[in-house]
Amino acid sequence: MQTQQQILSARYGQQPVPDMLWNDQIAALVSHRTARAYLPDAVPAGALEAMVAAAQSASTSSNHHQWSVVAVSEPALKAELSALAQGSAGQGNPHMHEAPVLLLWVADLSRNAAIAAETGTPNIVHGHLDAFLMASVDAALASQNAVVAAESLGLAVCYIGGMRNSAAEVAQLLGLPSLSYVVFGMTLGYPDPQRLSEYTPRPQQAVVLHHNCYDANAAARALETYDQAFDGMREALAGRFGIHLKTWREGVRGSVQAAYMDGRENLRQAVQGRGFELK
Ligand SMILES: Cc1cc2nc3c(=O)[nH]c(=O)nc-3n(C[C@H](O)[C@H](O)[C@H](O)COP(=O)(O)O)c2cc1C
Repeated sequence: MQTQQQILSARYGQQPVPDMLWNDQIAALVSHRTARAYLPDAVPAGALEAMVAAAQSASTSSNHHQWSVVAVSEPALKAELSALAQGSAGQGNPHMHEAPVLLLWVADLSRNAAIAAETGTPNIVHGHLDAFLMASVDAALASQNAVVAAESLGLAVCYIGGMRNSAAEVAQLLGLPSLSYVVFGMTLGYPDPQRLSEYTPRPQQAVVLHHNCYDANAAARALETYDQAFDGMREALAGRFGIHLKTWREGVRGSVQAAYMDGRENLRQAVQGRGFELK
């Protein structure tokens, strides 16, 4: 069991950390780390169901439950989905093959559209961008509650944003109904204790926490220490796994260039093809 100080020092590195309240649940949340290497062991019976109960317990816009999740364990289908999440440089996510389960989190207006259609109720709302956003937010909130539940069971995850690289093909493979799309995927399994990810430090709180009024200057100043905190992780990864990351700022600059899109530049067209009008 790690102490509060050990957990916070992994989270923030050498950056200032404010005093805060603390309990076991907060300790578990702050101890989160993504897993990109898994044991072959199956996800135990009842774990997925516990995760879904947690997911369903997240707040949901207007109690409309506009999300679904598809759990893929069939290896051939998982391999097809992994191929669709590959980047153009082929960097991909090799852990998608290793993890026993791939969860596809779906923004899903289809059920409620069908309910409206039962009585011929004109469906004005689902044609608007806000409905797309509501369903996407619902899926994200549900998925993160599922992550917290999974981690409490000793399981681990990695979100897979690359599932949107080929949104139309992914939807077709999964047989999704109109007015739904996969917002992101998520690998799920027991993390390999020999190949655990490093904890990724976060920027100090003054970067993201504003009081009463947004203070861009204070946030920018506070961000100055982050590259240094991130450097510790770069060195650790280079030492342990031979992975050479850029500075965090260089990473951000890379992420605003065209190559980062990897097919997601077509997302508007893909989701419009799935019935979202995005007005
Ligand atoms: C929506 C979303 C998509 C992500 N996609 C990927 C991905 O495709 N591959 C990957 O290795 N990590 C992916 N991640 C994980 C992030 O890289 C990770 O959460 C971040 O670097 C912080 O590390 P940590 O989760 O270990 O604290 C994704 C995270 C989110 C929230």
